[in-house]
Order: sequence, then C-alpha cells, then structure tokens
Amino acid sequence: MQTIRAPLRYSEPSPFLETNAHDINISAPSSTFNNVGRHQYNITNHIHPSTGALAGSPSHVAPFNDAPVDQLSVHFTGRKNELALIAEAFQKRQGQNVPSRCVLFGNQGVGKSQLTYAWANATYLREENSYILWISATTVEKLYQGFSRLLRFIEHPDRSHHDENVRLEAARRWLEKVKTGNWLLVMDNVFPETLDFLRQSLPRQNGCGTILFTTRTERVALALASTAGERHTVIEVPLLDIKAGVELFYGHFESGTTDLSSAKVEAIVMAVGRLPLAISHAAGFMMESHSSLDDMLELYQSGQKINVSLFYEFSLQSC
Ligand SMILES: Nc1ncnc2c1ncn2[C@@H]1O[C@H](COP(=O)(O)OP(=O)(O)OP(=O)(O)O)[C@@H](O)[C@H]1O
Ligand SMILES: [Mg+2]
Repeated sequence: MQTIRAPLRYSEPSPFLETNAHDINISAPSSTFNNVGRHQYNITNHIHPSTGALAGSPSHVAPFNDAPVDQLSVHFTGRKNELALIAEAFQKRQGQNVPSRCVLFGNQGVGKSQLTYAWANATYLREENSYILWISATTVEKLYQGFSRLLRFIEHPDRSHHDENVRLEAARRWLEKVKTGNWLLVMDNVFPETLDFLRQSLPRQNGCGTILFTTRTERVALALASTAGERHTVIEVPLLDIKAGVELFYGHFESGTTDLSSAKVEAIVMAVGRLPLAISHAAGFMMESHSSLDDMLELYQSGQKINVSLFYEFSLQSC
C-alpha cells in the first residue's frame, strides 16, 4: 500500500483557486458561481438550472454541488502539492469501471476539509464533476442522512421510502448507474466506527465516480484505501510549510494596515506549530485585541498559547 507523504514545499503567492485552476484535467459538463464574504468564500450550494431534469432517472438529472463550500476559508493558502497529488491519484485510475478512491489523513485542524472543499469546488468550477456529494462520515446515522439527501437532490422515487436501507440502496444504485456526468463523493471525517458500514454501502461500479475520504488516522486511511483486492492512494496532509503559514497569517490583514515583520510572523507561525487552525486563531486574536506582533510573541513565548486560542474563540462567540 502506498502512503504518500507530501514533501513540504513553499507555495505560490496566490491561492490555488486563482492560480491552479488549469493545472489538472479530467472532464464533465456545466457550472456557475460565487460571492466573497467576510472570512469565508460565501458560495451557495446549488443545482445548475440547465437540464430541467426528469428527476431520479440516471439519464436526466441536473448537475449539483452539495459540498458546504461556503466554509472554504477566504484565506485558503498553499496545498498546491496536495491538490496535484489528488489529481494524480484520480487520473491514474481513469478508464476502469469502478469509482477511484483517494484518502486524506492528518491530525485534527491540519486542513483536510479545507483541502477537500478546495478540490471539490475547483473540479465543479472546471466542469470536471457534475455532481458533488458531501457526506459527514463520523456516524452511521449521518451516513444514512447523507445518502437520503442525495435521493432528495435527484428527486428519486424512493426518496421518502420509510425504510432507510431501501433509501441507502437506491442511492448506491444511482451512483453506480448515472452516466450523465462525473460525480465526486466526499466522505468527510471517517471514524473507525463507520468503516464496516462504508465497506457495505459505497458504490462499487461506475468509472464516472471518484470518492475522496478524509480521516484523522493512518489506520482508518489504509482500511479505506483497500477494497476488493485493490489499493487506492493515501495522502498524508502535513502541517503548512512556513511560507504558506506566513501567507495565511498575512491574509487576515489588509495590506498596509499593520506593520508585519516577516521574521516575527514566522516566529508566531512556528510557535503555533504551523497548524492552520492555530495560525488563523492567532491572526484573528491579534486583530480583535489590537495587539502588536511583539505582544503576540511575548504571549506565545510565555506559554499562554492555549489561553490566546480560547480568548479568540470566546471573543468570536460573543460578537
Ligand atoms: N489551507 C488552508 N488555508 C487557510 N486556512 C486553513 C487551511 N487549512 C485549514 N485552515 C484553517 O484551519 C481550520 C481547520 O481546518 P479543517 O477544518 O480543514 O481541519 P481538519 O483537518 O478537517 O480538522 P478535523 O479533523 O477536525 O475535521 C479551518 O477552518 C481554516 O480556518
Ligand atoms: Mg475536517
């Protein structure tokens, strides 16, 4: 089994969504789009109005993007290398009649879901995927809900069936049969408890499909990557490299508003362990509390990192 550990690389200065949009090709129809909000890309999940849709029929269904891409950070930074690895993993398996899989694993807050939103969004915008399904895989209950939601999207005749197993089977069959466009199924945050359920319920046919999983542990990742004697790609999502971390920190400030010495920002990025979640919190805290970089460094060096994060969470909640 191949586990890819992406080498740390300095990222390009501009975000992937602007710079990398033409790096990767696959194929598929239709798209529209987006709006920028305060801290997040504010993108409404939607269905293309293009086909008018004889619902539920695999040959007549309107394209849709059901990923919560409105949660994609407006400061999305780096990850060029990982995006290229995902593209490579899916491209490698084109031409087979089974959905290709790729599994991302990494610690909590390292940015797996952000990377996945970016991938899902970019492939939809590039019209490589017509259908994006996003399902939280932390519990079996959420998986049932996710597959039922898919049936509602396609207005499947079994969408209101009282038996959840009938609904699940109908969703799987639709994914296995649909030929009107490529689909991406995201299984976000797979917990060990849902592995058995996933083994039984994921679509097993259809070369138009790709499945992207995220999970926190390598053990679960390896289990997800082995199916029917096949081995799919596993990619470890690392901490941000320093340059991307600094870029993420800077992204929170309008240029020219604050004097941000890069050596001090680097020191802060290192102090929070290059964890994107913590970098965003540190930048947010600095802005909210009108602190200087020296204040921030003093805080971090005095071992009060946890308090800073908590304060920031608290200040956001009380806004
Ligand atoms: N590439 C990135 N660019 C900018 N910000 C990022 C990036 N990756 C992560 N973040 C920030 O870190 C936060 C946590 O990221 P994310 O939710 O993707 O982590 P995760 O690995 O999916 O964690 P979990 O295991 O808890 O699901 C995001 O809300 C965002 O603020
Ligand atoms: Mg996540």
